Amino acid sequence: MQQAASLLSDQVAIVTGGGGGIGRAIALALAASGADVAIGDIVPERCEETAARVRELGRRALAIPTDVMNTDQIRALVDRTAEHFGRIDILVNNAGGVTKRPFLEQSEHSWRKHIDLNLISVLAATSAAVPVMIHGGRGGSVINVTSIEASRAAPNFAVYAACKAGINNLTRTLALELADHGIRMNAIAPDVTVTPGIRGNHAGPVDPTKWIQPTPAQTAAIARRIPLCREGIDSECGQAAVFLASTMSSYITGTVIPVDGGAWASSGWLRNSAGKWTLTGDIPS
Ligand SMILES: NC(=O)c1ccc[n+]([C@@H]2O[C@H](COP(=O)([O-])OP(=O)(O)OC[C@H]3O[C@@H](n4cnc5c(N)ncnc54)[C@H](O)[C@@H]3O)[C@@H](O)[C@H]2O)c1
Repeated sequence: MQQAASLLSDQVAIVTGGGGGIGRAIALALAASGADVAIGDIVPERCEETAARVRELGRRALAIPTDVMNTDQIRALVDRTAEHFGRIDILVNNAGGVTKRPFLEQSEHSWRKHIDLNLISVLAATSAAVPVMIHGGRGGSVINVTSIEASRAAPNFAVYAACKAGINNLTRTLALELADHGIRMNAIAPDVTVTPGIRGNHAGPVDPTKWIQPTPAQTAAIARRIPLCREGIDSECGQAAVFLASTMSSYITGTVIPVDGGAWASSGWLRNSAGKWTLTGDIPS
């Protein structure tokens, strides 16, 4: 999709986790469509790097190092953005993450960390930013980055998946509660998408030279599982976010858009080694 530079002109967006991966791609796509962007990321260098790229696109940017597991810092992110730009039109609740572990080996401390990072952060940012949108009287768009794991079983990712499922229903419920204010809430549900986190670069400055690359066997397995035959690209979530932020989606609220190469649609279907769709892989049915 070509971004029309005026699609979001005069709009102000906040993107949590906007320093890397999907959040960064969303921040840049919104800026390319005319929005000014505040980036709240836990890694200060990542915040600054995305802000510099937003400015290169001719938009204003604010880099605000923020740990979304700290609700005071989330409120400060929202307050500083509103103070600096005088308005908030778009909130992208993107920051999130997971540690792979069987549920029975996961401690209560770990449950709570996952819930703080993936769910409480969304509640806190939404409850801080929406009153600013309401006060502005121009409506707004809240976009939650959930996951395909919200809608299917996710062994070894149980608490994360439960949080993402919570976000899906929060999206539907708040769409109703906020509709009278002209504020829409929708979600984007990626499947596997190439990002620093997926490539083992969760913390510190983004450094693609250190990324763990998939083996040819892993790449082939992805192609068998995903109808469009490949991992997602972060900018594909950026394009979906521009759509949901703009008036192109003016009659869409309370929905979850899979950005997953068809993975949700395919459910248990797999390509066999001859490239045919089957429920049994290479074992004849
Ligand atoms: N990449 C995928 O395959 C995939 C699939 C489904 C869903 N998602 C979801 O997309 C979102 C982004 O994932 P990603 O793959 O781009 O992740 P990533 O790890 O590549 O990047 C996440 C960004 O968030 C920042 N961050 C991490 N913890 C933070 C915190 N506590 N406070 C503020 N910022 C923090 C990181 O510094 C980083 O810049 C997440 O919500 C994730 O659950 C990703």
